[in-house]
Amino acid sequence: MIIEHENSEKININTFQNDLISWFKREQRDLPWRKDQDPYKVWVSEIMLQQTRVDTVIPYFNRFIEWFPTIDDLADANEDKVLKAWEGLGYYSRVRNLQSAVKEVREKYNGEVPNTPKEISELKGVGPYTAGAILSIAYGIPEPAVDGNVMRVLSRILSIWDDIAKPSSRKIFEQAVRDLISHDDPSAFNQALMELGALICTPTSPSCLLCPVREHCQAFFEGVQEELPVKTKKTKTRNVQLAAAVLTNSEGKFLIHKRPASGLLANLWELPNVELHHNLQNEREEVVSLFTQELQLNAHLERIIGQIEHVFSHLIWNIKVYTGTLPDDFIEKEDWKLVSSEERDEYAFPVSYQKIFQMYKNSQEE
Ligand code: ADE
Repeated sequence: MIIEHENSEKININTFQNDLISWFKREQRDLPWRKDQDPYKVWVSEIMLQQTRVDTVIPYFNRFIEWFPTIDDLADANEDKVLKAWEGLGYYSRVRNLQSAVKEVREKYNGEVPNTPKEISELKGVGPYTAGAILSIAYGIPEPAVDGNVMRVLSRILSIWDDIAKPSSRKIFEQAVRDLISHDDPSAFNQALMELGALICTPTSPSCLLCPVREHCQAFFEGVQEELPVKTKKTKTRNVQLAAAVLTNSEGKFLIHKRPASGLLANLWELPNVELHHNLQNEREEVVSLFTQELQLNAHLERIIGQIEHVFSHLIWNIKVYTGTLPDDFIEKEDWKLVSSEERDEYAFPVSYQKIFQMYKNSQEE
């Protein structure tokens, strides 16, 4: 069959599918989530891969499956351990939603990941991309799984000039996949588009000469592969100045704080910190006073051991790091704990705080 795509020359769907899928079967990477089609493992891998590169994900995926091999294990796990398993991956709401969703699968679907678009899309954290990826890869159902990589690949093959940063564009690409997808092997088809995006049809300098579907590629034909996809820049990130303190008591225990249950880095642990709103004449005194007012902490601050920058998708933290001590009458609460450095390893901290612990350790060895 030959279809006339709205934005394209004629594309022969059968040869396109064959060229794409046979390349995938020959060249696909040996990845741990490709060992079987367990819907739970496919789900975990697709959630991890959403904002994170394959090379980074591999060790996290292996450890996650070792710690929580089944839906039951994840549903029953303590949330601190689940966050610990995700520590360093970022976008932690992904794993909090995943745990809520597997609990729902156990309660509502007897522990079987549902296999209809409607039911699977109702699960927490399962958007159209994840739904399509699980349905096609685990269940062989011909549903689109369109993420940024797939939009890049298809924008080139079909010469689609819609702005991929606009949420409304995803529908256009989903329709393109519906028109093109192999009904014999939807799993290989969708994974092949992802693999092509990762290995050949890269954001800059795509390897068109090695591309298995170059003959079908409208952008290559027109020589515009480097101009696609069209993607408008997001608005500038905001800068936030923070002061954090490594505070110890007379036993050498560290004070740590659990972040609120919603918002950025929800339920992760951190060091006591405050936001600084202007350039201060006497910063140390201001920090001590903010610690008292905002955190009800009577801390004594000693020295500044350094500064950490951490870039999020929408803001930048600039954290000045103090050392200091706590009075011995300090009382622990649910969200304020005193821990030894070994105990601290059981809690999940944002990467910025892991860097601070390392910085503190180095400062003690000097
Ligand atoms: N990126 C998103 N999903 C993927 C998968 N299943 N394999 C490789 N890369 C991916």
